[in-house]
Amino acid sequence: MTSEKNILCIGAGYVGGPTMAMIALKCPQYKVVVVDIDRQKIKAWNSDSLPIFEPGLDEVVKKTRGNNLFFSAEIERGIQEAQIIFVSVNTPTKTFGQGAGRAADLQYWEKTARQILACSNDSKIVVEKSTLPVRTASAMERILNDNSKGVHFEVVSNPEFLAEGTAVRDLEFPDRVLIGSKETPDGIRARKEVVDIFLNWVPREKILESSVWSSELSKLTANAFLAQRISSINSISALCEKTEADVDEVAGAIGMDSRIGPKFLKASVGFGGSCFKKDILNLVYICESYGLEKVARYWESVVEINEYQENRFVQNMLANMFNTVAGKKVALFGFAFKANTGDTRESPAIYIAQGLLAEHADVVITDPKALKNARKDLKNFKKGLTFEANPYKAAKGAHAIAVLTEWDVYKDLDYERIFKSMVQPAFIFDGRNILDHKRLFHMGFNVFAIGKAPLKHF
Ligand SMILES: NC(=O)c1ccc[n+]([C@@H]2O[C@H](COP(=O)([O-])OP(=O)(O)OC[C@H]3O[C@@H](n4cnc5c(N)ncnc54)[C@H](O)[C@@H]3O)[C@@H](O)[C@H]2O)c1
Repeated sequence: MTSEKNILCIGAGYVGGPTMAMIALKCPQYKVVVVDIDRQKIKAWNSDSLPIFEPGLDEVVKKTRGNNLFFSAEIERGIQEAQIIFVSVNTPTKTFGQGAGRAADLQYWEKTARQILACSNDSKIVVEKSTLPVRTASAMERILNDNSKGVHFEVVSNPEFLAEGTAVRDLEFPDRVLIGSKETPDGIRARKEVVDIFLNWVPREKILESSVWSSELSKLTANAFLAQRISSINSISALCEKTEADVDEVAGAIGMDSRIGPKFLKASVGFGGSCFKKDILNLVYICESYGLEKVARYWESVVEINEYQENRFVQNMLANMFNTVAGKKVALFGFAFKANTGDTRESPAIYIAQGLLAEHADVVITDPKALKNARKDLKNFKKGLTFEANPYKAAKGAHAIAVLTEWDVYKDLDYERIFKSMVQPAFIFDGRNILDHKRLFHMGFNVFAIGKAPLKHF
C-alpha cells in the first residue's frame, strides 16, 4: 500500500518516540519515520528493549513498528521523503555565553533546520514539537526560506503537553492539541495539514488553532503554571511544619474550591523532570530580554522555592538525625523524578543524594526503573554510594529511609520487616507523603513527612 503521507520526526527521545508511535497507530494510512543522530537509541527503538520506559508504549510500538512506523539513522533520506517534518530535538538550558543558565540552547534546533534545508528538494511543512522560546518560528523560517532552491518551508508550532509516566494515555486522549501557524494562506494551509493528522483520533473541539506566537508561548506558560502550583503548595508545607497544620488537609480543603481544583496540589520534596525548571528559566530570560523585570522575578521565584524545598529536606534530615549523617547508611527509596518513568533528569533525588554525600553519609539508592540513569547522574561520586534494586536490602542496616519517588511499590512494603532490619532509632523521611505515617510511628519509626508535624519517639 502506498502511504497517503510521509511524516518524519527528527529526535527519537521521550517526546519523538511515543508521539510518533501514537500517530502511526491512529493513522495507518501514513508512513511515519523517526530519526536520530544517536544510533544506539535508534537500535534500542528497533529492539525489544525500548530506550525509555513508559506504561503501554511497548504495545503501541509492537503494533506499528515495521508496518507504518520506522526508526532509522538515515536522517538525510528521511528528510527527502517526508512532506511533514516534526522536530523534537532537545532544547536544554544554555550552559555558556549570553543567557547561560537561563536561555534555551537552540543549537540542536538550528542545526536541524539547516540540515532540513540542505537535504530538501521540495517544499515541506516543518512542525515545532520541541518546546521553544516564543518567536523561534520566525528565526527558523528565515533560515529555511533564505534559499535559492525554489523550495518553501512553512513552520507550524505544535507543542507537546504529554506528561512522562502517562505519555501513552495523554497522547491517545489529550486534553487538547494546539497548532499555531501564520495567518497567511500558506500558513493556514499548513496548519490544516497538521490538524488533519490529529483529526484521525482527537475530537475536533479539542484541537485548538492559534497564532504561532500564542502556541509557542502557551507551552512555556502551561509548564510555568503547573510548576507554580507545586511551589505554592510546597511553600505552604514549610509553614505547616511550623504551625502543626497538615498540608494534605489544607490542599484537600482548597482543592475542593472549583476555582482552584484538586490537581497539582501534592506537597513534596520538589518538582523535577527535564522541562519545568528549563522552561521557567527560559520564560524568565525572555521576560528580561523584553525589560519585564518584575514578571521575570515572579516566575523565577517558582524555581527558587523548589530549590529551597530540596535544601529544606536535607537540612531536616540532618537536624533530626542529631546533626550528623556522617558514616550513617541512608536508603533513598526512588530516584526517578516521578513514578512510572526511568527518567531522572532534574530529579530532586539527585540534589538530595548530593547533599547527603557531601555530609559523608553512606547513600544506598533503590528504584524499580531508574538505577541506570542514577548511576550516570552520580558518576562523579566514587565513595559512600551504592545501588540496590531490592528495597529490603537497601534498607537493611540503614539509619534512615528517604522516600523520594511516589512509586506504588513503596506503599506496600513490609515496613515491620524493614524496621527490624534497621539501626535504631530508625527514621523515615517521606518526601512524597505516600506512606501511612501513623502506622509507621506505631511500629517504632520516627516519621517526618512534608508539611506535617513530626511523629517522633524522643
Ligand atoms: N520529556 C517531556 O516530558 C517533554 C514534554 C513536552 C515537551 N518536551 C520538549 O520536547 C523536546 C524534546 O524533549 P525530549 O524529552 O524528547 O528530549 P530527549 O533528549 O529525550 O530527545 C531528544 C533527541 O533529539 C536527538 N537530537 C538532537 N539533535 C539532533 C539532530 N540534529 N538530529 C537528529 N536528532 C537529534 C537527541 O539525540 C535525542 O535523542 C524538548 O524541547 C522538550 O522541552 C518534553
